[in-house]
Amino acid sequence: MSASGIMTRSAPRLRSLSNLIPKTQKLLSRSLAWTPQPEGSEHRAKWQTTKRPLADERKPLWEKAYFLKPGDAPVEVGGRHNDLRVGGLKVPNIWLRDNCQCSACFHGDTRQRLHDTFQISRDLTIKSHQTEGNSTDIEWSDGHRSSYSHSMLRQACATFEERAKIRQGLPEKPVYWGSSISESPPKVAHDAPEALKAIFHNIRTYGFTYITGVDYSTPEPTKDILTSLGGFLRQTHYGGFYVFTADLASKDTAYTNIALEAHTDNTYFTEPSGLQAFHLLSHTDGSGGASLLVDGFKAAFDLKAKHREAYDILSTVNVHAHASGNDGISIQPYRGFPVISHDPATGDILQVRWNSSDRAAIELPISEVEKWYDAARKFDKLLKKKQNEYWEQLTPGNILVFDNWRVLHGRSAFTGKRTISGAYVMRDDWISKYKMSRWGEGEVLGAIPTS
Ligand SMILES: [Fe+2]
Ligand SMILES: [Zn+2]
Repeated sequence: MSASGIMTRSAPRLRSLSNLIPKTQKLLSRSLAWTPQPEGSEHRAKWQTTKRPLADERKPLWEKAYFLKPGDAPVEVGGRHNDLRVGGLKVPNIWLRDNCQCSACFHGDTRQRLHDTFQISRDLTIKSHQTEGNSTDIEWSDGHRSSYSHSMLRQACATFEERAKIRQGLPEKPVYWGSSISESPPKVAHDAPEALKAIFHNIRTYGFTYITGVDYSTPEPTKDILTSLGGFLRQTHYGGFYVFTADLASKDTAYTNIALEAHTDNTYFTEPSGLQAFHLLSHTDGSGGASLLVDGFKAAFDLKAKHREAYDILSTVNVHAHASGNDGISIQPYRGFPVISHDPATGDILQVRWNSSDRAAIELPISEVEKWYDAARKFDKLLKKKQNEYWEQLTPGNILVFDNWRVLHGRSAFTGKRTISGAYVMRDDWISKYKMSRWGEGEVLGAIPTS
């Protein structure tokens, strides 16, 4: 009796599990992936190009009802379980207690969590509470006392998109540009008041800036300024801060005098550098060598508007890269990345990786790679469109700094002897400096629990 009871209870569960399998297969077949079939299978391997939703049109994981609408939502404690609610949204006690900002829970200097989250009782309740002005004090059933600012509580209830914008320091949309930016390119005098803030504002908005009036009698002032953008410079197989002339000291086309078409650097790293900078210290006995910048986000935006399928392919097919010119070195990212990446929280373009010289494998079955080439050809055409190209002759005293995740760079061929200095700064490092310079430590640190 009991055995048959178990069987009748478990049978439907087994059925429901097996029902899930075709659904999972269906989901997998929708993604842009190649699935090898078992040997001897009558099915041929198939690559599906269609229907993988992109970040900006993916169905939200959560319904809108889970998020707070912007505004001054009231903070209340009450109801049958004495819950804290912000604009009617319940904030679970475990989150509140885990994010108590008191000095016993968070280290005042390091802002690191001090308590053991999993020692907090699951049955924790609010014993008493008091709201005064813009904060609510709570006495918990375990005796601990916490105080929460209403702005933090409201922020915790905001959409992922809003929270991502705060985390990334992107309250305003970037401005896309073309060749006409040459009429008034963004620039900041190195000794201007709040120069750092203005430099980052330009980079966040336009993807690049000039820093002007820099002493170029030695490379040191350039090194100091670039170091200030991230705290320190990135070390690579080319070194850190560099001063180079066209002598092929490092085996890379960048160290020659030939023309370089627009590209991003470091596609061969898992994480390409966030900022890249050039300072032409001298150019003697020759001419040429104009610098080219192209707004990769704008080109991607145009591609999406004109050739949606191509955009989808470049956003989903992983591409590999390598750096192998130096003896004993062959660097490759730990995985392939698409040419265009999106932020999963906002759907916005996050990164363009484009370097034909350094490209290795395209992560498609060989018989299908034409699809990627066709898509990439369309993107290449946009990148090379005259209206998208901004050309400028660099001059001593002016450092060019650009966001290597957004802006492509190149140069025309040149003659004579050219000495250029520059460096890379990692993305996390410069975004950290940018946020601190713009909002101040208090606000940036205050946003950590909620963004
Ligand atoms: Fe480069
Ligand atoms: Zn506490």
